[in-house]
Amino acid sequence: SRELLAQARLLGFAGVPVQTAADFDRVLVPPGYTARPFFSWGDAVLADAPAWQADASDDWQAQLKQAGDNHDGMHFFPFAEAPDSHGLLAINHEYVNPTLHPNGISFVDGRRPLAEVRKEQAAHGVSIIEVRKDTAGHWQRVLPSRWNRRISALTPMAIGGPLAGHALMQTAADPAGRTVLGTLNNCSMGVTPWGTYLTCEENWPHYFVNRDAQDWEARVAHKRYGVGNGERSKYYAWETADPRFDATPDAGQPHGGQVNEPNRFGWVVEIDPFDPARQPVKRSAFGRIGRECAVLSLGADGRMAFYSGDDAKGEYVYKFVPAGRFEAANPQANRDLLDDGTLYVARFESNGSGRWLPLVHGQQGLTAENGFASQAEVLVNARAAADRLGATPMDRPEWVAVHPVSREVYVSLTNNDARGDKHAVDPANPRPHNLHGQILRWNEKDGDPTASEFRWELFLLAGEQPGTKDQEGQPVPAHLSGTINGDIFSSPDGLAFDGAGRLWIQTDYGDDEPAMQAMGCNQLLCADPLSREVRRFLVGPRGCEITGITWSPDYRAMWINVQHPQLSYPASDGQTRARSTTVLVTRDDGGVIGS
Ligand code: FEO
Ligand code: CA
Ligand code: CA
Ligand code: CA
Repeated sequence: SRELLAQARLLGFAGVPVQTAADFDRVLVPPGYTARPFFSWGDAVLADAPAWQADASDDWQAQLKQAGDNHDGMHFFPFAEAPDSHGLLAINHEYVNPTLHPNGISFVDGRRPLAEVRKEQAAHGVSIIEVRKDTAGHWQRVLPSRWNRRISALTPMAIGGPLAGHALMQTAADPAGRTVLGTLNNCSMGVTPWGTYLTCEENWPHYFVNRDAQDWEARVAHKRYGVGNGERSKYYAWETADPRFDATPDAGQPHGGQVNEPNRFGWVVEIDPFDPARQPVKRSAFGRIGRECAVLSLGADGRMAFYSGDDAKGEYVYKFVPAGRFEAANPQANRDLLDDGTLYVARFESNGSGRWLPLVHGQQGLTAENGFASQAEVLVNARAAADRLGATPMDRPEWVAVHPVSREVYVSLTNNDARGDKHAVDPANPRPHNLHGQILRWNEKDGDPTASEFRWELFLLAGEQPGTKDQEGQPVPAHLSGTINGDIFSSPDGLAFDGAGRLWIQTDYGDDEPAMQAMGCNQLLCADPLSREVRRFLVGPRGCEITGITWSPDYRAMWINVQHPQLSYPASDGQTRARSTTVLVTRDDGGVIGS
């Protein structure tokens, strides 16, 4: 089937060079292309949003109406009447930077000021914004818009699937276990065939703390995920101002206080961008992991798989197969299709074969005597269930992309400096102290997304070209050399195919780290799946990560996100403090991006 992909010339642009200057402060694209800031932290989402204050003095009520921080995964949803010129952009806001406040993140008498915490919570979540081409053919944000919406860490959302109302979801604040406030650390995403957005909750354990050492040690749902067990949560110490984030068990309160609150994060959250009145739903049948993404593969018969990386060192690759099929003619039937299905975890054998192992209560030791009293326990403790099944520990699985024709599946394994310590090298994760990462790909048996067997291979090892000398004139060590055919990069993270089958690769590494000096600033590259040629398309400003990618359906407009830039570009007002920003890329002749 790879022969089907052969095309005369997939990569039709002039590659751009690495950018190593400490003050590089632009978005660089090839000749004939233009990149312009489109939507920055603080920009108005709701029509009555106050104008963003350059000194970050906006309060949390303002932030609830403005773009959140740290733009990440996103998707363009077209309107049927004018798909190439009118749509909704759904954009994740993963976490917050200290620049959210005038003087950074503060403590008063060991506690976070509640007003700061609320602003941070308001800056998390998702923005949905209407966008359309103006009469001159330029894409603009539309305001006011009946679709524009901010979803934050404070927005009520429902729980769907096996965990809805379950004891594991009940807290003192929500004894019914059916309504969660908000979504956290929304990294990457997915899209359903029925036009809903799936935002995914990645590094949620670091928002919580359980100070009861004995309880934490025994509680798999906390310990296996790295919920904090010190004095404070790892990220923002919200628990010092908002008791919801203190997951220390409290026997004096119903349901142990908020001990179950961390169980309510790590899910896939389904949002209907076209229905602002519809509550988001956490789809618990997908299981609870450090959820990077939930990427669809749709079979010809309407059966589906959604692939997910669990981005932590030595964690796994999963897929969720809904029990039902997508029926285009019956939209009502799709509404809760994601509440029933089977979660699988991947095992990559050294001979290039692979298997999907089902996480099903009562099978393969997922039994009450092993701590899995029901399917609810299997799903809440999906990592522990996957441990028991013998899944393959991977080098930090991030995004997944599915080829639009062949359904070949690609996953970025971003890096893993601990490979070779706790987890031995293996053919899928072949380098010790893996700083540069790799991209692995597989074909499901018979091209069936729901298959239980597959064949895999490494697409490329990122890193420097073999034989490269470092700044001291010494050969770059073998574990930092890659197999890239073309422009070098490190730490692949975002992955997506366009409609012609170009694989777009986004990077996330510390551009100030010694091993990254040859790579320069973070970047967006384009690869030909057949020839494996890789060409650098875009470089972002110093200190940023490039993440999130989507297109208009005609592929003549591309949006990408510049997350946590260090310098002032590319704030949409063109001045003042650095702001995470969605950037619009177009071709000056109006052509298809990359062709
Ligand atoms: Fe939020 Fe794994 O990147
Ligand atoms: Ca990522
Ligand atoms: Ca990353
Ligand atoms: Ca990030």
